[in-house]
This record gives sequence, C-alpha cells and structure tokens, in this order.
Amino acid sequence: TFVDAKTDDEVDDNPIEQVRLTVPITDDPSEPTITFRTWVLGLLSCTTLAFVNQFFGYRQNQLFISSVSAQILVLPLGKLMAAVLPTTQFSVPFTKWSFSFNPGPFSMKEHVLITIFANSGSNSVYAVNIITIVKAYYHRSIHVMAAFLLAHTTQMLGYGWAGLFRRYLVDSPYMWWPGNLVQVSLFRALHEKEKRRRGGRTKMQFFIIIFVSSFAYYIIPSFFFPSITALSLVCWIWKDSVTAQQIGSGLKGLGIGSFALDWSTIAAFLTSPLAYPDVAVINMLIGFIVIFYIVTPIAYWTNAYDAKRFPIFSSHTFDHDGQTYNVSRILDEKAFDMNLKEYNSYSKLYLSVYF
Ligand SMILES: *[C@@H]1O[C@H](CO)[C@@H](O)[C@H](O)[C@H]1NC(C)=O
Repeated sequence: TFVDAKTDDEVDDNPIEQVRLTVPITDDPSEPTITFRTWVLGLLSCTTLAFVNQFFGYRQNQLFISSVSAQILVLPLGKLMAAVLPTTQFSVPFTKWSFSFNPGPFSMKEHVLITIFANSGSNSVYAVNIITIVKAYYHRSIHVMAAFLLAHTTQMLGYGWAGLFRRYLVDSPYMWWPGNLVQVSLFRALHEKEKRRRGGRTKMQFFIIIFVSSFAYYIIPSFFFPSITALSLVCWIWKDSVTAQQIGSGLKGLGIGSFALDWSTIAAFLTSPLAYPDVAVINMLIGFIVIFYIVTPIAYWTNAYDAKRFPIFSSHTFDHDGQTYNVSRILDEKAFDMNLKEYNSYSKLYLSVYF
C-alpha cells in the first residue's frame, strides 16, 4: 500500500527522531525500479568493487573503495543512459508486459538499488583469507571447487543469519542504523528538487563544496605530509626514550597525547564519527581509554606474561626469545599438522600484551 503525504493522513510515527527527520514516508509507485539501467550499472559496480577491494586488500596499506563512491559515480552514468538510450517500448508477445532500455529519467529508486548491488560486493569475502593463508603460508594447493564452495557456503551462512534476525534487526523501528541515514540524506540531496533560499545553499551545492574541498585537502596527508596522520607530541619531546615512544607513538605505541590532522585516521576506527550519536562515540571512547590508558600499561609494566620481552603493540606471534615465531619449525609438512615434540623443544607461542 502506498502513502502520499499530501492526500493521506498517514503520520510519520517512527519512534526515533533522527529517522523521522531524515527518511520521508512518501512513496511514488510510478517510479521505475528494476530497469535495464539497474541491472547494467548494478552488476558493473558490484563486480568492480568486489574485484578491486579483494585485489587491493593484499596491499600492506589497504585500499578500500566503499559503496558511497559507487553511489556518487553511477549518478552521471545513470543520467547519461537516460539521455542517450532509445525510449522505444518493446512488448513481450502474449503478455501485457513491455520493456524499454530507457523508461524515463534516472530515478532515486534505481540509484538506491544500484548502490545496494555495489554494497553487497564491496566487502571482500572473509573465507578468502583461509584460502590465501593455506596457499601463501603453508604452500598447499587447494582445489578451485573446494575454495569456491568454502567462500560460497560461508557467505550464504551470513545471509542466512541476516534472514533469521531480520525481524529484530531490520523490521523493528527501534533498530536504526546511523550510517544508513547519511546515505539516505545523500540520495535526497542528489535527487530531490530544492529551491535555493536567498543567500543559502542547496543540499547539492553543500555536498559539492565539501566533496571538492575534502578531496583537495586529502592531497596534503596522503602525498605531501604523510607524517600528519599521527603527530606524537611525547615522542618529539623525549626523542631517545624508548618508554616515551611506547607511550606516545600513535603508530607503534599507546598513542597517548598523539593526534592527527588526517580525517582517515579519525574515521579508521568508527567510520565517520559525524554519523554516530554522541552516546555511541563516548561508549567506545570509554572502552578505548580503559584498554589503552589503563589495562595495557599496567599489564606491560608489571611484566605480566613476560610482556616486556615483546613489543607493547603488535599483531605478530613470538617465541620465548622475543623473536618472530618460526612456524616452519613446528609444522609437520607431510601430515600438515603440528609437531608437538618440536613445539615443546622450541618455545611456547607468545602474543604482544595488547593482543
Ligand atoms: C625456521 O625453521 C626452519 C626449519 O627448522 C629453518 O630452516 C629456517 O631457517 C628457520 N627460519 C628462521 C627465520 O629462523
């Protein structure tokens, strides 16, 4: 059933104010949805993002293209297709259906669907890590079909869980996803016709100004001064002190007193803090302070589990001498299993105190 705010008395009764302010309850059922454009641009952006993000995920310094980039890039492509493709209607014989490569202007619904396509491909498949590790670290081959099934079954498991929890996590009006509201605002800014107030800006103009200036600013931390991604005051003052580096370094230490002039550092942890409510940000901040400013330093400087023998903050595994753990020494190549005798004569496995 469709609701038109002008003719109907339907009220927006969503319990969350932010949702009421961002998501309109109006609908235009005549807008085209699943069209030729949706399929072409949707499949194209899904496969492109899936490939690019998987491929560049192997870099030390990961490159990730989010679905928001696709959301922005497909708009001119959709408008171009609406402008140049023939509007001829082809009717499907013996049915009432007809089909056109170009059913009118590029609609917001098509745009949303394409972005959903893009988003479903943009996150790399977690199980691919298993395949990579088996190949790269253990030099074992894994059959293409087995790899394919592993990737697919784990992905399907995810969709299955999503389906099971849909009632609680999607349908419930109390479940709102602040990140999605940002995307809804962007869709509205890109599509809705808006009269510019005198001396004001439209949402589209505001978006373009921020887009261009943040793009321009990003050249500074990414190209000219990568050092401003972590400015560690404590390290500047006590240049030769190891303890100061451990406390103050924003890259290899606890990062106390360290700050950044690079938005990607700020957004790396929680994605955009602008999108999330203060209570969520403060909640995470408390956890961060407890772990990094209290628990980790106490554990390290009281030498819990021989913590001082290893870096304070590292994702590697170590042996009892503080060297990187040599996995080949305890791996039984033939059985592809752990050699317990070798393990006992070599060393226990250690992690940095933070992990
Ligand atoms: C790791 O152990 C293997 C087998 O004992 C040895 O051949 C290799 O040199 C070791 N690697 C390092 C980095 O110590």
